[in-house]
Amino acid sequence: MNKHDKYIRRCIELAQNGFGTTYPNPMVGSVIVYDDKIIGEGWHKKAGEPHAEVNAIRSVKDKSLLKKATIYVSLEPCSHFGKTPPCCDLIIANEIPNVVVGTVDPNEKVAGNGIKKLIAAGANVVVGVLEDECNELNKRFFTFHQKKRPYIILKWAESLDGFLAPEKDINQDRKPIWITNTYSRQLVHKWRSEEQAILVGTQTVIDDNPKLNVRDWSGNNPVRVVLDQNNRISRDSRIFDDSVKTLVFTKSEISFSAENTTFEVIDFNQNILPQILEVLHQNQIQSIIIEGGLQTLQSFIDQNIWDEARIFIGKSIFGNGTKAPLLQKKNATKAFIQNDELINVRNYD
Ligand SMILES: NC(=O)c1ccc[n+]([C@@H]2O[C@H](COP(=O)([O-])OP(=O)(O)OC[C@H]3O[C@@H](n4cnc5c(N)ncnc54)[C@H](OP(=O)(O)O)[C@@H]3O)[C@@H](O)[C@H]2O)c1
Repeated sequence: MNKHDKYIRRCIELAQNGFGTTYPNPMVGSVIVYDDKIIGEGWHKKAGEPHAEVNAIRSVKDKSLLKKATIYVSLEPCSHFGKTPPCCDLIIANEIPNVVVGTVDPNEKVAGNGIKKLIAAGANVVVGVLEDECNELNKRFFTFHQKKRPYIILKWAESLDGFLAPEKDINQDRKPIWITNTYSRQLVHKWRSEEQAILVGTQTVIDDNPKLNVRDWSGNNPVRVVLDQNNRISRDSRIFDDSVKTLVFTKSEISFSAENTTFEVIDFNQNILPQILEVLHQNQIQSIIIEGGLQTLQSFIDQNIWDEARIFIGKSIFGNGTKAPLLQKKNATKAFIQNDELINVRNYD
């Protein structure tokens, strides 16, 4: 492995420590190298807190070495004043002569300006080391800035014979019928903690009364997003408990006063997906996990507006009920969580 690859790989490792806590900022890692030894390391922990480069520079004990060092950073250093001052200025002020950048920042406020500023100040700048890996690290951030919508993960569990749920018994309590084992369900809670929002359709709320929060893992709760065109969801449903920020898409104004629950009016006579995604983009939501049911998932699949699908196949046989969505499983990878099969499909190269 060449030297640049080795140190950018370390930047990626460091950056991943910030998974789920840096929104709306990207995950970024940085290392400072002198004489082929790492003399400083840092990563961005939380929006509003110091960027990776600041933490890496602060961690260097002998600051005199900075004038002969190379700073590696997985994403282009920022050149603008946000909640913190520009990292480029700090690199320039510390006279670090060499800068190696994994990938260019897609944020319009940066987008190459950081690199230009460093070059203008006389630094030797190398750009595009492990670029694909650095882009993949921040796929949510890149999708948000480039496609002006959140990164979309479709998730469902289906029975061995291809059903999302068995035929409903109207006398039965509102609760889901589990298809997967407890480890798979715990993994889903970890996934929820990694995304900024979670969406389900009206019928799923009516049938299952889900909490849509993170319980079997520690981390942030995603913003709950539900569709309720005709106010079919009863107000005593868990999604209306106001315990988590919740966004409800409806067709007309609703008078409901709660601190964390917002109703957003959209035109259900038009295609609702672009309207939902626009509102999510305005709310700075960079990623969303869509957890069902069939109609909701199938609309995203049919309009080809999704980035990744995570499908569990359990061992139960239902015989009838709500069918699983239809999705062409190209570029799929498979894994097993005990007896559950987990298929991951990517909708990008
Ligand atoms: N196994 C799993 O992973 C899993 C996950 C979730 C749910 N489920 C099961 O799936 C079943 C529900 O699936 P489902 O397909 O019946 O319901 P759904 O997708 O949860 O909800 C469908 C309803 O949502 C609204 N809706 C969704 N997409 C829309 C669109 N593009 N445009 C307009 N409105 C839209 C409509 O309500 P209006 O008609 O009121 O507008 C529609 O009737 C439940 O039994 C649940 O248990 C299983």
